[in-house]
Amino acid sequence: MGGEAAVEARGLSKRFGGETAVHSVDLEVAAGEIFGFLGPNGAGKTTTIRMLLGLIRPTTGTASIFGKDIGREFKAAIRHVGAFVEGPAFYPFLSGRRNLRLFGTLSGGASEDRIAEVLEWTGLTAPADKRVSGYSQGMRQRLGIAMALLDEPRLLVLDEPTNGLDPQGTREIRELMVRIRAEENTAILVSSHLLGEMERVCDRVAVIARGRILQQGTLDDIIGDASERVELGVSAEATAQATAFLRERFATEATSTRAGMIEFSRGTLDLGVVNRALIESGLDVHQLTPRRRSLEQAFVTLTGEHSSIR
Ligand SMILES: Nc1ncnc2c1ncn2[C@@H]1O[C@H](COP(=O)(O)OP(=O)(O)OP(=O)(O)O)[C@@H](O)[C@H]1O
Ligand SMILES: [Mg+2]
Repeated sequence: MGGEAAVEARGLSKRFGGETAVHSVDLEVAAGEIFGFLGPNGAGKTTTIRMLLGLIRPTTGTASIFGKDIGREFKAAIRHVGAFVEGPAFYPFLSGRRNLRLFGTLSGGASEDRIAEVLEWTGLTAPADKRVSGYSQGMRQRLGIAMALLDEPRLLVLDEPTNGLDPQGTREIRELMVRIRAEENTAILVSSHLLGEMERVCDRVAVIARGRILQQGTLDDIIGDASERVELGVSAEATAQATAFLRERFATEATSTRAGMIEFSRGTLDLGVVNRALIESGLDVHQLTPRRRSLEQAFVTLTGEHSSIR
């Protein structure tokens, strides 16, 4: 990783009246990484993000951005941050480009080149000069992200940027995050409940539920390495024989899922050894594939079955 952390939060808590929405959250986002903040509705994602950005004051704990404390050095801390939190407001009667110009003046003026660049990145070049009132929800989301990018942030914070988008729009946002990080080495903190999407782009994730961080780390840390299940493909006629062989020789609970396909738990088995043994016993191996759990499966295990996450 190297360098100071983009975000460092220690013991962040937030109480609203008698309710504790966020309990002692520790978070660390490295410079230049895409960090997924994942949790079901009401888990405390937005509340945490608001504290990180200095929009609300934590009940306890501290947060800093590139080493600057958000409470004590607010201006220095947010200087390098672009954020998209819960549906940004635009002037509907102005075009996308004019909205960006106006927003740019708040931070001392954005160049026309930069405006054109963020419009291009977010796929808004063609409608840039149309009124925002005519934009679809996806276009508004992308304009919100363009706004967050305007000032060349070193940290981009996106709270549920794909809310309300269709699969195509969701994919565009994912590709946009990858591109932003690649071209400007921007760290991205993105909250979402779309685990499949996050699994594809995040370097590390934190899972939060009921205000507490359940786990934080690389996807391998959270999902487990490729050791969970193994699929073995053999010819249809050899299915029963191969299943019996695996059970006897390797003491696995191998089961056939369909003709020619068998699944077993890898445990500590060396797949090279398994492969050789199958072939030596006269079985043709068509495929031998470790299947990693999906982030979704890992998530359900972590948060319990009643989580409302998709
Ligand atoms: N201003 C507030 N006053 C009182 N309670 C609040 C306030 N803001 C949030 N909460 C409560 O804090 C908890 C966490 O809410 P938060 O919005 O942070 O969750 P979230 O993870 O962002 O959920 P979602 O996925 O629905 O956006 C919820 O129980 C919510 O009702
Ligand atoms: Mg939220």
